[in-house]
Amino acid sequence: MAAATAMAALVPGQASEARDTSYVEAPLRAFAAITMVWGVVGFLVGVVIAAQLAFPLLNLDLEWTTFGRLRPLHTSAVIFAFGGNALLCTSLYIVQRTCHARLFGGDDAIWFLFWGYQFFIVMAALGYVLGITQSKEYAEPEWYVDIWLTIVWVAYLVVFVGTIMKRREPHIYVANWFFLAFIITVAVLHVGNNISIPVSFSSSASYSAPAGVQGAMIQWWYGHNAVGFFLTAGFLGMMYYFIPKQADRPIYSYRLSIVHFWTLIFLYIWAGPHHLHYTALPDWAQTLGMVFSIILWMPSWGGMINGLMTLSGAWDKLRTNAALRFSVVAVGFYAMATFEGPLMSIKAVNGLSHYTDWTIGHVHSGALGWNGFITFGAMYYLFPALWKKTSMWSEKLIAWHFWLATLGIVLYITAMWVSGIMQGLMWRAYDELGFLQYSFVETVEAMHPYYVIRMLGGLLYLTGALIMCFNLWKTVTVSETAIVAPAASAIPVAAE
Ligand code: HEM
Ligand code: HEM
Repeated sequence: MAAATAMAALVPGQASEARDTSYVEAPLRAFAAITMVWGVVGFLVGVVIAAQLAFPLLNLDLEWTTFGRLRPLHTSAVIFAFGGNALLCTSLYIVQRTCHARLFGGDDAIWFLFWGYQFFIVMAALGYVLGITQSKEYAEPEWYVDIWLTIVWVAYLVVFVGTIMKRREPHIYVANWFFLAFIITVAVLHVGNNISIPVSFSSSASYSAPAGVQGAMIQWWYGHNAVGFFLTAGFLGMMYYFIPKQADRPIYSYRLSIVHFWTLIFLYIWAGPHHLHYTALPDWAQTLGMVFSIILWMPSWGGMINGLMTLSGAWDKLRTNAALRFSVVAVGFYAMATFEGPLMSIKAVNGLSHYTDWTIGHVHSGALGWNGFITFGAMYYLFPALWKKTSMWSEKLIAWHFWLATLGIVLYITAMWVSGIMQGLMWRAYDELGFLQYSFVETVEAMHPYYVIRMLGGLLYLTGALIMCFNLWKTVTVSETAIVAPAASAIPVAAE
């Protein structure tokens, strides 16, 4: 006990966990650093495409820099490069610590994952700019990139499961359940949605195996579950580890976390058809998607309550721990996005929201608020822990980052709500003779001020991320190095 208290003084937020110097750490440091690099690239491209929507001249009249090519570059950079590296980094960090076992395969296997995954990202990004794409949203890379990612992903699964199998803890901590569901489901989705026939082995182009409405259904089974398992289940794994760690409290209810896990993974997989309302998809399938989406509200909020209530008795920490603020506000945004999503899945509401900026507002309250903030909170914890520093270089800069990014999100999503709902209402407005009241170009014109506000919001978010990078850099190079305690058997994190 005395040793644990002494350790808490050495490494912030590590009160109940002994440090084992035999853990794999060097490749995880690389994952943490590259997460931030890709984050900045992805946010920057986001700001560029936001500017292009406000000022189309910025397309520069060059095929490589048009909105159509840069948009998938943005979505892939933020989801797969920023989010994916954050998930690999945190899942591998968490699994070895909560299992008290060195990662299966050791440093070499993790370096393979690191370089293999970056190679995938670079190949995908080059394809987008050069116009090589299979035109499936969030699954744009062509067959040769898909095959490479499958190899890397299977290696990831082997490392993760291998580590769990050699654990020195009888218990598998709940964060690992979420990560495992994320890894397995993403593998199934990726293979299922990318079954295609290359035009020839010397060609980068291919035909999708399922076509027509079946193709659309499989694409949105994939797309929705990319949200459910990539952007949600994996990030919930982060929540279940980092919030208890940063607040130094056990999870509010371990039982609720198990109920949360099973209901979430059972329900998510059925909700995909809500992306295809009022299409050629049979009506019953659309209704099924809607009903499952509405039911999804419950486990989503159960998980949110579990995350937030973990702070009961420790709310005061929010005043002093700026990194914890990120993690907690992330859960707040998760609540918002998972309230809005079920609402938008109701067919009558979707009739208004679909094709409009409302969807974009929903996406970014989840993406910027939930995925971005929980990752920032995790990275503020991991950098000192992985580089063995006593603390972050500047708490004040974390607070600056927090307020700039929060203001950026508020500008972004309120602008999109207003413009989205206005856009939907303008499209369906009729005059007294039954003619459309507005021409399409009038609706585009009406969007302009909101696109400028969104661009400014994005700029604030990007500025915050640059401040974070500076602070992390200073932490690594200047902050005082912690004295590392000798390896000892550690106590599981909030596992009761
Ligand atoms: C500085 C921050 C960001 C800015 C300025 C930004 C801007 C944009 C813009 C302008 C679009 C295109 C909207 C349209 O087609 O009408 C977009 C799409 C998208 N962004 Fe971002 N973004 C940012 C950060 C993020 C992050 C962190 C994520 C995910 C983790 C994300 C995920 C997406 C997704 C999934 C879409 C496609 C949405 C859809 O098709 O409905 N963005 N973003
Ligand atoms: C209970 C949870 C959720 C439900 C039921 C839900 C539901 C929906 C619905 C109905 C749409 C609009 C579909 C359309 O009109 O085409 C949508 C779009 C989207 N949602 Fe959610 N959502 C949820 C949570 C989230 C979260 C947490 C994120 C995280 C970032 C997210 C990311 C997205 C993205 C990226 C899209 C745009 C897909 C596209 O068209 O490209 N959602 N969601």
